Amino acid sequence: MTLPFDGIALGCDYNPEQWPRSVWPEDIALMQEAGVGFVTLGVFSWAKLAPTPDTWDFGWFDEIVGLLHEGGIAIDMATATAAPPPWLTAAHPEILTVDAAGHTLWPGSRQSWCPSSPVFRTYALELVRTMAQRYGDHPAVRLWHVSNELGCHNGRCWCDVSAAAFRVWLSDRYGDIEKLNDAWGTAFWSQHYTSFEEVLPPRITPAVPNPTHELDFARFSSDELLDYHRAERDVLRDVSPDVPITTNFMVSSHQSEQDYFAWAPDMDVVSQDHYLDHRLPHIHAEQAFTDDLTRGVAGGEPWLLMESATSAVNWQPVNLAKRPGELLLDSLQHVARGADGVAFFQWRASRAGGEKFHSALVPHAGRDSVKFREVVELGAALKKIGDVAGSRVRADVAVLWDWNAWWACDLGSHPSGELHYIDAVHRWHSAVTDLGATADVVHPESDLSGYKLVVVPTLYLVSDAVAPALQAVADRGGHVLVTYFSGIVDEADHIRLGGYPGAFRELLGVRSEEFAPLAPGAGVTLDDGSHADLWTELLTTTDASVVASYADGPLPGTPAITRNGTAWYVATRLDEQATAALAERIATEAGVTRAGSPGVEVVRRGEYLFVLNRTNADVAVPATGTELLSGTSCNGTVTVVAGAAAVVQEGT
Ligand code: GLA
Repeated sequence: MTLPFDGIALGCDYNPEQWPRSVWPEDIALMQEAGVGFVTLGVFSWAKLAPTPDTWDFGWFDEIVGLLHEGGIAIDMATATAAPPPWLTAAHPEILTVDAAGHTLWPGSRQSWCPSSPVFRTYALELVRTMAQRYGDHPAVRLWHVSNELGCHNGRCWCDVSAAAFRVWLSDRYGDIEKLNDAWGTAFWSQHYTSFEEVLPPRITPAVPNPTHELDFARFSSDELLDYHRAERDVLRDVSPDVPITTNFMVSSHQSEQDYFAWAPDMDVVSQDHYLDHRLPHIHAEQAFTDDLTRGVAGGEPWLLMESATSAVNWQPVNLAKRPGELLLDSLQHVARGADGVAFFQWRASRAGGEKFHSALVPHAGRDSVKFREVVELGAALKKIGDVAGSRVRADVAVLWDWNAWWACDLGSHPSGELHYIDAVHRWHSAVTDLGATADVVHPESDLSGYKLVVVPTLYLVSDAVAPALQAVADRGGHVLVTYFSGIVDEADHIRLGGYPGAFRELLGVRSEEFAPLAPGAGVTLDDGSHADLWTELLTTTDASVVASYADGPLPGTPAITRNGTAWYVATRLDEQATAALAERIATEAGVTRAGSPGVEVVRRGEYLFVLNRTNADVAVPATGTELLSGTSCNGTVTVVAGAAAVVQEGT
């Protein structure tokens, strides 16, 4: 996947409509000073481009497109459909989304549209066609940007229009209502349907809703927005066939509504937005995880970081600013893990509106600011590593991930409401990266042949294809690590009978009869002295040997960690220390390549070695070649001072 910009481009969202014309020439001059290679233009411009239902106003937009082009700045052109103008929602309130309780979500913010609305689609596609006709062969336009963060705020809608679309989707999936009845297990609680017409979206119910109904609604909602993307894409392809098309993904820990493995094949460029989430305990581990997952979504190819923040956001309980130096380190972390461009929301910090306290490349203080100087430094640094573009990250470890498993695992009425899929995956991904190993985060049905270790954290829902694929890894001597509450159900969320962990009993050589989750705050000790919490289960071994057993808790003396050759099972949630120790043991046995140390991230991308030093001490890392940020050569080691980064082109 070659990005349509030069080198490792610096980019940003540019919203010139928020500023008087007199500011625009200064914008272009400052962009040049910072080395901005591309801007995303027009994301929220609909109301200015179509000021009334019957008029277009492209004069101001032509002017800004011309200024950018003259300034040598490429354009990622948004189709401008993300936020409908008030004249549209006033004339057609039926396009508004409705929540699960039946409440309309009123206009006054953004993304006020139902993904299934044919009325919205008609207006939006007219705008897309008009944009494509006007700018589709403009030399500055290098990429089309469909809508914006499809599903941000409107990922699921429970209105009557959505209900009708859901029925069509179900009828396509099942063909026959009895097949739906089987899949949804409607013999339970008298839920049997006699026709698709009786089915509603899973609105708020008096008691526990049908989980497969909920799961299918999650699948439908993801597919529905993908279908919307395709509708915009088809218009763009028709009018402007030579310009590649993307839409910015939200692979993150707080957004689970799109199955991006299903979306990625429709993208010419995989692009992704990422904001550090200070509500999480390990913010950079989460960033590493989402980068590795985005690369997995992109099939291992380079991808584009379409949005991030130069400092604070405005939407967390407390919006922490980046300290000096962090902007460069955070940006290089994305590049190390496969990004071929680093872009930000937004160019100039707004002076009005709901995001006026969100950071930007040009802060409220203006050009004369620490932030803008850091942005200029970042632009210069990205220029120096331009040749990294196109190279691929090398990883010995795969961590399996599936949005379907996330949706199903986090439904209600499970053994423990304290168990969250994302936490389980984060814990094992960060244990692997803290060891200094690099992991690809990939779909359970992807090609696992190149990995020395495959980690399967809490993969509750799996298809029949996954266990044989993992068996093949173990058979060739690769290591497989499966953790608790994996392999439990099939794709319809039906229990795999005969004992847990269902799909993986044979691979792991174990059988579990009953879950015994722990109360919040309770813990268990293992006979090797390690600690765990959240989960235990009544496990017996069939072919496996016991690595550690519980010393206390509800099941003393029974196995907690087992191995069947190279297939390991961890039946509890080990604390971070014990997780790290087990990851170390298995990675060593598996011969996983490792570099780096706590706080020092070392990632290899093609012939380039990235070293990010987030510690307070200088470090020396083995490397021979040219350090590109300083232009110096290193012979045997590269020294990276505290809080700094190095990118070594090895062998030069
Ligand atoms: C999202 C949106 C942007 C902006 C940022 C703020 O990523 O796409 O328009 O609202 O969030 O963090």
